[in-house]
Amino acid sequence: MFKWRDEFSVNVESVDLQHKELFRIGNMLYDVISIKDDVDSYDEIVMILQEMKDYAVYHFHYEEKLMKENGYPGFEKHKKQHDAFVEKINSIDEGDIDRKQQKVSMDLVIFIANWIENHILKTDMEYRDFLNEKGIY
Ligand SMILES: [Fe+2]
Ligand SMILES: [Fe+2]
Repeated sequence: MFKWRDEFSVNVESVDLQHKELFRIGNMLYDVISIKDDVDSYDEIVMILQEMKDYAVYHFHYEEKLMKENGYPGFEKHKKQHDAFVEKINSIDEGDIDRKQQKVSMDLVIFIANWIENHILKTDMEYRDFLNEKGIY
């Protein structure tokens, strides 16, 4: 589901490592959801989802600090996207996961994967040259 490719690199090592960690957590989530047995994996799904949210918030703050400190002009627009993602994850009804586990969880993990991939490839990529020119790699 979440596969790292070179085209995801924003050429800033710490950020690339954090993006890889988001992919790792995303894959954990995908793996738990993909198991088709009768075991109730609700607790595990909610736990990994929480981990995904916590790490995403940590990563977003890291990026925002980097952009702000360097006077990146696209800061506000970029932050809005981060906030919208966190809001979306926060709005998940955990009761829904419990009742319709497989479907709801799979839709969610697909949304997360698409959002992260698009965000890195479009929005994060926009600060790549700007930060590199400031000497940040
Ligand atoms: Fe970002
Ligand atoms: Fe990012």
